[in-house]
Amino acid sequence: MESFIRTLPKVELHVHIEGTLEPELMFQLAQRNQIALPYDSVEAARKAYQFTDLQSFLDVYYLGAQVLQTEQDFYDLTWAYLLRCQQDHVMHTEIFFDPQTHTQRGVAFQTVMAGIIRALADGEQKLEISSRLILCFLRHLSEEAAFETLAQAMSYQEYIVGVGLDSSEKGHPPEKFRRVFEQALHAGFLTVAHAGEEGPASNIRDAISMLRVSRIDHGVQCSQDPELVQELADIQMPLTVCPLSNIKLRVFERMADHNLVDLLRHGLCVTINSDDPAYFGGYMTDNFLAVAHAFAVTKEEMAAFSAHAIRASFLPDEEKAKLQ
Ligand code: HPA
Ligand code: ZN
Repeated sequence: MESFIRTLPKVELHVHIEGTLEPELMFQLAQRNQIALPYDSVEAARKAYQFTDLQSFLDVYYLGAQVLQTEQDFYDLTWAYLLRCQQDHVMHTEIFFDPQTHTQRGVAFQTVMAGIIRALADGEQKLEISSRLILCFLRHLSEEAAFETLAQAMSYQEYIVGVGLDSSEKGHPPEKFRRVFEQALHAGFLTVAHAGEEGPASNIRDAISMLRVSRIDHGVQCSQDPELVQELADIQMPLTVCPLSNIKLRVFERMADHNLVDLLRHGLCVTINSDDPAYFGGYMTDNFLAVAHAFAVTKEEMAAFSAHAIRASFLPDEEKAKLQ
């Protein structure tokens, strides 16, 4: 099983590029940009990555992102992630980025975009890894700030396939961004949203009805609402589940308690993803292995997670066919 998983061709649909910032690169960039970090060493940073819930992680994640300043920083970040994709047999990846985390600090939208886009182009050319980019609005910020960010994205439609919603789920329901998503959809962006990670199952229903999402990011709280589980199966709404993330942020206590295998066997379009691999202790292969270790799953079931990700990706059908 282990070698089967290692070489299984994979597609990643839920990874925050800022969450791939390994402490080694964080220290390198902090030095390059003369930014002080609250950690004495790489080891101390890793040791500090102990979280009790989503917010306790987000505080550390936004702090780390401050070392990202120049176009080259965003290039280096993205390129390092793509090299990890190559090791993990990730053939295609759809990457989230959080422009507001950077524009709020005075880093230009253009700087963020230029670095990421250049790395993704190199990834296609040199590593044969295809990719798409999804802009996430920070849901703890205002609707107005999201509208401003959407306006900045309009000149990058060639490079940004969709928009999403991340950051603190509790207290910031999908409804808050209904009008922003309406405008984004009207402009031709696809939509996704983090929903039912630690927020209620109703956020999943609302993301589908109000934000017209093509996928639900996480979505594991659907189990609170059996009728919703059946509906997700019926409409084959993809869930981008992140097993190691859910354990680190204590959404489930142990991997054996996770519901993704139950959901898969119930006929849902479940996928496996890494979320913020530098903070949660693992990239794609690690997530697949963690699931296989905790459950009596077959190779066919592990392959189904990959097949679902191909189907749920934002690639055109002819590109999907090449990955199968
Ligand atoms: N949830 C919400 N926001 C995030 C996450 C997450 O798992 N990772 C990065 N931003
Ligand atoms: Zn996420």
